[in-house]
Amino acid sequence: MIRKILSHLVILTLCLASCSTPSKQEQVEQRLTGTIGQKAMVSSVHELASEVGKDVLANGGNAFDAAVAVQFALAVVYPEAGNIGGGGFAVIRTAEGKSDALDFREKAPLAATETMYQDDNGEVITDLSRIGHLAAGVPGSVDGMVKLHEKYGSMDWAQLVQPAVDLAKSGYVVEERGAANFMRMQEAFARYNGQGFYLVKDWQPTDTVWHKDLESTMALIRDNGRAGFYEGAVADLILAEMEEGNGLITQADLDAYEAQWRTPLIGHYKGHRIISMPPPSSGGVALLQLLNGSANYDFAKMGHNSAEQLHVMVELCRRVYADRASYLGDPDYYDVPVDMLLSDQYNSDRFNTISMDKKTSSSEIKEGEVEIIESIETTHFSIVDELGNAVSITTTVNGYFGNKVMVDGAGFFLNNEMDDFSAKPGVPNQFGLIGNEANAIQPEKRMLSSMTPTIVDKDGQLLMVVGTPGGSTIITAVYQTIINVIDHGMTMQEAVNAKKIHHQWLPDLVLVEKGAFGTVLTDQLKAYGHEIQERSMLGKMDCILVREDGTLEGASDYTRNGGIAVGY
Ligand code: DON
Repeated sequence: MIRKILSHLVILTLCLASCSTPSKQEQVEQRLTGTIGQKAMVSSVHELASEVGKDVLANGGNAFDAAVAVQFALAVVYPEAGNIGGGGFAVIRTAEGKSDALDFREKAPLAATETMYQDDNGEVITDLSRIGHLAAGVPGSVDGMVKLHEKYGSMDWAQLVQPAVDLAKSGYVVEERGAANFMRMQEAFARYNGQGFYLVKDWQPTDTVWHKDLESTMALIRDNGRAGFYEGAVADLILAEMEEGNGLITQADLDAYEAQWRTPLIGHYKGHRIISMPPPSSGGVALLQLLNGSANYDFAKMGHNSAEQLHVMVELCRRVYADRASYLGDPDYYDVPVDMLLSDQYNSDRFNTISMDKKTSSSEIKEGEVEIIESIETTHFSIVDELGNAVSITTTVNGYFGNKVMVDGAGFFLNNEMDDFSAKPGVPNQFGLIGNEANAIQPEKRMLSSMTPTIVDKDGQLLMVVGTPGGSTIITAVYQTIINVIDHGMTMQEAVNAKKIHHQWLPDLVLVEKGAFGTVLTDQLKAYGHEIQERSMLGKMDCILVREDGTLEGASDYTRNGGIAVGY
C-alpha cells in the first residue's frame, strides 16, 4: 500500500544523501500533491472502501452509485464511523451543474422528550445522551442510500451492496489504526455488549476482524433495500436490542423514518460558487457566513496562517458560532432564519465590529462557559466520476463506535447522535456546543449537526469536493481548506495538510494543532488577546480538486491518521 501511495506522490526531497531517510510521518507531511487521476477519483478514510468506489466507477457506475457502495463498505471496514446505524448528509453536483442535497440525519424517537437527559432536579445526567441505548437516534443511512440510488443511481442496487457483503464475509486486517481504536474501547465494548463480545480482546495490527453478523444484515439490505433494514429480521434485532437496554426506538420509529431531499445552500466567494448543506446541518449556513465575512479581506496578502489572517478568521468564527447556538436547528420543527443569516446586510452588521487590533471577548457577544472534549469520530468521502458528477458525503454515528452498543445478531453499532441535541439550554454537548430552543429535543426532530459536505465550482465548472469529520471543528476545517485553495493557491493536498485552527465562540479559546505555530506566531496571536490551547489534530479531510488541466487531485488526510484517495 505504501508503495502505491508513494508512486502517486511528489516527495519534497530537500534532504541530501547524507541526511537520514525521512520517517514515514515526515514523508507524508512532505507530500505536496495528492493522488492524480485522469478521469475519476474516490477519497475516503479507508483504502478498501476507496477501492470499492473506484471499481464501481471503472465498471461504468456513476459517482452516486460509487457513493452507495462506499457508504456500505465503510460500514464494514470502518465501524468507528462508517455505518448503517447512523446518518449523514450528501451534497451533489451533477455533470450538468445541477445541485442537490440529501438529509439522512437520524431523528429523535417518537418517545423522546425535551428533558429526557435531565434528572428530577433538572440537571443533565452525564453520559446518558452519549453512551448506551438511550443515546441512539433512529438511523437514517440505509434509507438515505436507497433514496440517493433511486434518484441518481444507474447501476443495479444489489451490485452496489455486494462489496459490503463480501467484505463482511472475508474480514479485513485491522492494521495499526483499527487495532488502536478497538483497544481504546475495550471497557465500553465489554460494558455494553458483555465480556464475551468478539471485539473484546487484545488487538494486534495484523489481526483480521470478521463482523460475522453483518454479512447477513448486508445481504438483507442487498436483497430487500429499505425493507431489509427497517423491517423484518434486522428491525426485529434492533427492537430486541432496545428492549434489552431500555432504548426508545420502536417499529413505529423505523416505519416513519424518511431521508429528505433538501434545497442546497448556494453562496459565492471571490468568483466561486459554494454548494453546501442546509439545516438540520449548521455547516452550510456557518460556512457561507464565514466566507461572506472573508470576502472583505485579502488573505493572500496577509499570508497563509499569518497572525493577521488567523485573527480575522477567529473573529469571524466567534460571531458565526454564536449565531449557530441561537438560531440553528431542524427546519421541520423550528423556523431557522436562513435568509437573514446569509444576507449581506446582516453579515456586514455582524462583522463590522471586528477590530484589527484586538479580539472581541466572547462574553460581549453572548454569555456562557463551556469546555470542549476530544476523542470523536465521523467520516467523510468525496467522489468525482468520468462524466464530472460529484458527491460529497459526511456520515457518522457521532462518537467512536457511536453509543458503543452493537445490535446483537446484526453486527453494527448504533449511533449516539442524540447528544447533538441541546439536552438543556446552555449546557454543552460533547463538542462544547451549546444550544437552546432551536435545538431542543422533540419527537421525530433531527438533531443539529456541524457536518459540512461541500462542493465548489467556478465559471460553471466543478472545482472542489470537500469535507471532514471533527464535530464542531468540521466547519472551520472546511472553511480553511477552501481558503487555502482559493486565496493561497495551494494544491488540494497542501490545503489538507496545512495546520488548522478553530474557534467556536465558547469557550473563548483558539484551538491550534499541536506544534503548528512557533513562539513568534503564538506571541503575535496572544498580543491580540487570544487565549491559545493545543489540540492533537483539527480536521481529517478527504477532498478532490479539479486541476487546471482537467486532471483530478484526490487528497486524503494521511498526516492525521487518515485514509487514501484512489483514482484512474
Ligand atoms: O453531526 C455532527 O455535527 C456530529 N455528530 C459529528 C460528529 C463528528 O464529526 C465526530 N468526529 N470527529
